[in-house]
Parts: sequence; structure tokens; C-alpha cells
Amino acid sequence: MAPITATRDRTRSQQRFERAQQSLVEGVNSPSRGNAVYCGGPLFLERGSGSHVWDADGNEYVDFMMSFGALIHGHAHPKLVAVATEAIAEGSHFAAATSAEVEAAERFRSMVPSAEVVRFTNTGSEATMLALRLARAHTGRTRFLKFEGHYHGWYDPFLLNAHGHPPEQLGPPENPARISDSEGIPPATFDDVVLAPWNNIAALERIMQKHGHELAAVITEPIMANMGCILPREGYLQRLGELTRDYGVLLILDEVVTGFRYAPGGCQEYYEIQPEISTFGKALGAGFTVGAVAGPRSILDRMRWSDHMVLHYGTFNGHRLTMKVVAANLDLLSLNDAYSNLHAVGDEAIAGLREVFRRRNIKAIVQGFGPMFQIYFTERDAIHDYRDYCAYADTARYSRFVHLLLERGIYMTPSNGLHWIISTAHTKADVAALVEAADHACADLT
Ligand SMILES: Cc1ncc(COP(=O)(O)O)c(C=O)c1O
Repeated sequence: MAPITATRDRTRSQQRFERAQQSLVEGVNSPSRGNAVYCGGPLFLERGSGSHVWDADGNEYVDFMMSFGALIHGHAHPKLVAVATEAIAEGSHFAAATSAEVEAAERFRSMVPSAEVVRFTNTGSEATMLALRLARAHTGRTRFLKFEGHYHGWYDPFLLNAHGHPPEQLGPPENPARISDSEGIPPATFDDVVLAPWNNIAALERIMQKHGHELAAVITEPIMANMGCILPREGYLQRLGELTRDYGVLLILDEVVTGFRYAPGGCQEYYEIQPEISTFGKALGAGFTVGAVAGPRSILDRMRWSDHMVLHYGTFNGHRLTMKVVAANLDLLSLNDAYSNLHAVGDEAIAGLREVFRRRNIKAIVQGFGPMFQIYFTERDAIHDYRDYCAYADTARYSRFVHLLLERGIYMTPSNGLHWIISTAHTKADVAALVEAADHACADLT
């Protein structure tokens, strides 16, 4: 059995956090990394190799957060380090046409079924922003539908009901209360947003009957990844595809989390669905910042230069160094057993955790499969949607559990809204370490 290392000395992390707060808001660059999530302040991570990371105090962890899923090959994969090192020596970026972006795009197209053409952006948020603009231009319609609990980046119109709230604030599912996730967004922005509960075909049919004819797009995550890991009900995504086609609405599949993770072609390949537009990020860049919009020429060609074009500029689009890494990343993912290994290691971790909770008689479920999953402390058999998550997931208990794991050499965010990530660097020994740490954590869990 893998050794469990106690990692309780946090002195240097705490000192660095004190210092960080002098110059950075909350000492971090995103609220999900700071005190709002990590009790006693965040761990300062200083180094990573494969599936392991080390903090400022020298504590070692198996990393199951993997940069919120960006690190599909773990930390500092030797091939990616070599490619990035060579690329930076030649000139990291020219903001000009390069062979690197062509090579990345060719590999992308060969893997993603719906990608007749691709446009690279710098983040997932930019990709979803562009996808919506394209859909509006293509259909000549302005309104779009988003689902409760789905996060598509931090662009204004997407920031409706993307955070969890107490169930009594949510309103009826057929007419959800509309809760902005951010100050500073003009309320009129949300006039164009139709909000719907996810995983509920009857509600969707009713809403599409009422609003379908006025919608440019429906945007959805194929697996809900920002309320943990919530799987689509059998046939749900297929029915969603039929309804959007019936009403002439474009389906935007947001594969920023699931893309290049579940299958070479992401969830659209795994679930056999045909989105008009899909968006990518995270695993595409293997740790470098990139996003992408993919789809048919008939839609993406609207970005061609003309008086009526869809504008998409960006100094760093198709960043040369990143494109070199993207191409190398996709080559690694195209190796024969990459996906079968991701699924096998993930399924083993899920089975191991379920067995620990069963043996310890703890009311918890592990939801998801293969390369991505989440633990919910709940009396329920499954969490099917945002409302289940808000009502039945004991997020405070989850946070206590993850803090106990952090003391036992497992790195993960204590936020229940995120999910556990398996990379190609994870091994059976890492899974054994997780299961043993979980067993110890359960013994101490209050
Ligand atoms: C489903 C989904 N879409 C879009 C985004 C935004 O991506 P980024 O953080 O790269 O801007 C995220 C980020 O977590 C996401 O989970």
C-alpha cells in the first residue's frame, strides 16, 4: 500500500499567503483558489511532476485537481517540456500565420467529429463568447437558452444561476428564479436569456414550445461539470438535439471540461451527438492557455473578413508556443491506449472510494465515470441536476473531507462544485494512495 505522508506543516504557505494579500485581491487571481474555499488559506504549490505536486513547505501530494482539468498529461510531461522549450527558443509568438497553428488545427479536426474548421481562442470563456456571437449572427436571433447550474465562463450573459443557492430561493423548475452570479452586469443583459432546468425533457419541451422560435442557440455542458459531475439522463442530449433542430436553434456543446477527456472527440463522440458549434479549452492545452470553437464552415466562415463579419480578434490567438504544445498533446492523446488507461484508472478510483464509503457506513456517492468524477455526501442515490445539488449535497461535509485528505497527501479543491480529474500520468499507486487516505479521512470525518 502507498505510504500516507502527514502534511500538516503549512508555515511557508501561510507566510506567502500573508504576503500575497498585500498585492493581490484575496491573495490570489481567482476566488476559487483562496480563503473562500481553503480553510486557513491556500497551499502554495511550487512544483509538479507527473501526478504529484509539492507545496512551499515541501509536502508532497498526489494531485487530483490537475489545474481544474487542464493537465491531461499531468505536470511537466517530458515531451511537452521539450516541445515548449524548443518553441520558446525559436520565438514564442509572432501574431502571424504559422505552421504550428495549422498542425494543431489538422490534429484537432482529425479527432473531433463536428470540426470541419476550428478557430483557436485563449480561454474557454472566449470560446463560449465567440460561439454565442456566431450563433446569433447565423440565425439572426438574439435570445438563447442556458441551463441552471451550468457554467460557461465569465462572459456577462452566461452568469445566471451558475452558482449554488439555497433551494428555497430557486423558484419553480418550469419558471426558475433568475439569480445573477455577479454584480456589474446590466440587468437587461439577461432579458435575452431563457433559463431552463437541465436533465428534464418535459420541462425542456414546454420551454422550447414557448421560446424555441426566438432562440439563436441552446448552450449546454454534455456532463454537468460545475456542480460536481452530473451525468445526462439516458436520451436527454439526443432529445435536446432533436428539439434544437426542430426549432432551427443551434446547439452549442460546451466541451471546455469534457473535450479530449472522455474520448478523442470528447462527449460528442462518446454520446454520439451532433452539435452545430462546440467549444473547447482546458485539456486541449495540456496546461497552456487555449480555447477553441469548432463547427461547420457554413457557420464559422462568418468570421471571414467582410462588412458583415462576426468579429473575433486577439493578439494571442493561435499563440505559436501553445499551438506546438497543442499538437504534441493531441499526438500523445492519439496513442493507442491513452483513453482506455484514463478510463481504467478513473474507474478503479471510483470503485475504491465507493468501497471505502460502504465499509465505513458513510452516506456518500461517487458520481461519474472514467476520467472525471465527484463525491457527494448525500442520502440520495444520485444527483441529477442543479436543484438536487442545492438541496441534497452536503457541501460543508465535502469540504471537511477534502481538508482531511489535504493533510494526508491528496491534493484536491475542497469545492464540491468541481470534480476529480484523472490524467494520463495517474497510476494504480496513486489510486491506492487516494483510497487509503480516504479511508483515514472517513475515520476522522465529523
Ligand atoms: C464548462 C465550462 N465552460 C467554459 C469555461 C471557461 O473556461 P476558462 O476558465 O478557460 O475561461 C469553464 C471553466 O471552468 C467551464 O467549466
